[in-house]
Amino acid sequence: MIPADRLSAIRIARVNHAGEYGAIRIYGAQIAVCRLLWPRLVLPLSQLKAHEVEHCRQFRAALSARNGRPCRAMYLWSMGGWVLGAVSTLFGPNLIWVCTEAVEETVHHHLTDQLEWLKSRDGDLHALIMGIQAEEEGHLDLARSEKTHDNAVTSAFGALVRASVSMVVWLSTWGESSQMLRDLAGAA
Ligand SMILES: [Fe+2]
Ligand SMILES: [Fe+2]
Repeated sequence: MIPADRLSAIRIARVNHAGEYGAIRIYGAQIAVCRLLWPRLVLPLSQLKAHEVEHCRQFRAALSARNGRPCRAMYLWSMGGWVLGAVSTLFGPNLIWVCTEAVEETVHHHLTDQLEWLKSRDGDLHALIMGIQAEEEGHLDLARSEKTHDNAVTSAFGALVRASVSMVVWLSTWGESSQMLRDLAGAA
């Protein structure tokens, strides 16, 4: 692998590790609030969180294997994730699932771009992300099936979440997500 591609693979493992940490914080905050307000959601959210903990561990290992360090903006993922999780939960179960749907959709989109880029460059990371993406799809399906309705508020909230997640991804990779899309467009 050429040095520039090696660096990109590290950035992919790094942003995914940070993103999984953000997801842990989202679900952690939702579970904490649900214990008080919506206890029936504690179990399904805890199951999603357990997946994110395992994904986070796997991306951390992938990062170490490539001599990469965790993202310097972890505090942003941590704080942003927790606030997003807590706020979404205060407005009831539907908004929890709207939040999950928006986060998982954005994640899915980024993982698909990464897979395309990695397939000819880093087979191990490609295989890892393939397996994780399958579980993320399960999270997305669950959110879509549990969500009861859409309206102007849920649409606006979903759009805000998608934009925020994409912005933090972009910031955490120093624009790597855009560069990757340009690479793919150039190769097409
Ligand atoms: Fe995950
Ligand atoms: Fe997920």
